[in-house]
Amino acid sequence: MPGSIPKAFIDELLNRTNIVEVVNGRVSLKKAGKDFQGLCPFHDEKTPSFTVSPAKNMYYCFGCGAGGDAIKFVQQFDGGSFTEAVESLAAAAGMEVPRQRSQSPQPNLRPLQDAMLAAERYYKEQLKKTPEAIAYLKSRGLTGAAASEFGLGYAPNARDSLLQAMTAGAAPISSKTLLEAGLISSNDQGREYDRFRRRIMFPVRDAKGRTIAFGGRLFGDSQGPKYLNSPETPLFHKSRELYGLFEARRSARRLEALIVVEGYLDVIALAQTGIPNAVATLGTATGEEHYRRLYGYTDEVICCFDGDPAGLRASWKALESALGCLSAGRRLKFMLLPDGEDPDTLVRRQGADEFRRRMAKATPAVEHLFTGLRRGLDLSAIDDRARLVDLAAPYIERTPTNSALQRMMRDQLQALTGIDKGLGDSAARPAAPRPASPRATRRGGLRQNLLERLLSLLLKAPRLAAQLAPEAAAALAELQERKLFGEVIRYAAEHEGIDSAHLLGRWSGQDGHADLIMLHQRPCVLDADGMAAEFGECVERLLATAERRRRTRLVQEMRDDPAKEKEKLAEYMALRRRAEA
Ligand code: UTP
Ligand code: MN
Repeated sequence: MPGSIPKAFIDELLNRTNIVEVVNGRVSLKKAGKDFQGLCPFHDEKTPSFTVSPAKNMYYCFGCGAGGDAIKFVQQFDGGSFTEAVESLAAAAGMEVPRQRSQSPQPNLRPLQDAMLAAERYYKEQLKKTPEAIAYLKSRGLTGAAASEFGLGYAPNARDSLLQAMTAGAAPISSKTLLEAGLISSNDQGREYDRFRRRIMFPVRDAKGRTIAFGGRLFGDSQGPKYLNSPETPLFHKSRELYGLFEARRSARRLEALIVVEGYLDVIALAQTGIPNAVATLGTATGEEHYRRLYGYTDEVICCFDGDPAGLRASWKALESALGCLSAGRRLKFMLLPDGEDPDTLVRRQGADEFRRRMAKATPAVEHLFTGLRRGLDLSAIDDRARLVDLAAPYIERTPTNSALQRMMRDQLQALTGIDKGLGDSAARPAAPRPASPRATRRGGLRQNLLERLLSLLLKAPRLAAQLAPEAAAALAELQERKLFGEVIRYAAEHEGIDSAHLLGRWSGQDGHADLIMLHQRPCVLDADGMAAEFGECVERLLATAERRRRTRLVQEMRDDPAKEKEKLAEYMALRRRAEA
């Protein structure tokens, strides 16, 4: 929320940020007098009408009306929130984003932070006193320096030793706070006990180095899950946090690359052998929020996985989540390790130099993508080449519109298949220049935009639904971009002769009603004929998208299970013939 970041900071950030540099990293610009010009990333155009003015520190597109300051640009281009845009620009400018005690009651995080700090100290003390835990760390090859840099500790093998220690003493912490911090749990009888017992403790730190969570590893002959992490708390959201990010940033001001590995000990083993820029997700797949974070600190992310089938699958998932974040200047690579190795074992056996050589040879995302997609296809056969086009389409669609990456993917696909037609996903390009709403440029946003346009027209003139063939209405309703939109389309198609008030009233008081009202009120300068034509165009393009998705699903199913080929082939070929006609 804009309100939680002080205005003075925003002004200073914009002052220190050169908008030309920000835009130039994402759109290629040419000098034109005092200003710079390029092809607008927010609508499809052949001649540049997108202008960046260093003097005004603003951008503006004469074609579609998009415009604003550097924050707005990053927000529109990367498809994140205001806060995320500020954070990414601040990271690039080497500034720390301050938080205002805002008017809306912010939860007071201080007691939780204090509890985490006290627990970290306690666990560290315990490690010093516990030879078997030290011996385990030594057996894993950890140096004392690394253990101390990463703040490792030990949670004793006792029911409530942390609870006892924290609630006693000069500055006692209430058990309520300890519960909220995820340090203790309570059973059905209300009895409280330590969450972590007989575990090596790894503090997870936020960007400022404050401990916000722990991971704990069992060792020796203990029973239970190997790793236990803190639960989600007001301090800790695991879909966002990266283990080792604070330590990595401490090693260099601007990181050339960040390596994403799987485990705590991988991060530490790499750091202590001289590769300080590794981070790990916390028992989850690398998701979009992780990438936004990562690219706030570096332009290159290298994802490192086991070379086994599970690792390969995980790398695929990681690739899918990253695509929407890969705007210009950002690189993503994949590094698959020999079967049975993880970075910890590998760097220990082969040393940091060999690991760096592997990093240098990491596979770029586009190559990784196409290697995976063409698996099982015979590209000397025209039919398989067409299938590759269908398989690649959703990935191309997910990358930022008109980005260098998207062009690269299209070029690569054309080079592999010789097929040109259909590579420009019609739904991903707006038909006519129009002001891009920030919402519309979010991931998959232009299609969302099409659906919104269709809805807006339909809400103004429900009789347009009469243009829809029943199959078309059903296919549109199934696009599932938003369930509500599908329902409105279906309802309008099934109720001939209703008016706007009726259609809007149908959802009154329900979730999403406000969105429908907003769409109904969206300005529109078209006359009745114009509206009908535009409605028809939206329908046609959305249907093409729906069919293309259906084709993609069918090819995927046929490839994953060749036994299904017989059953699916006729439908697939029929859809393709229709698209090619
Ligand atoms: P791995 O099982 O690959 O172990 O878990 P590792 O990192 O190689 O650990 P060591 O070398 O045996 O100590 C990778 C990551 O998955 C999460 C942890 O974040 C771990 O670092 N994990 C694993 C869990 O959350 N729970 C588990 O039980 C296991
Ligand atoms: Mn390991």
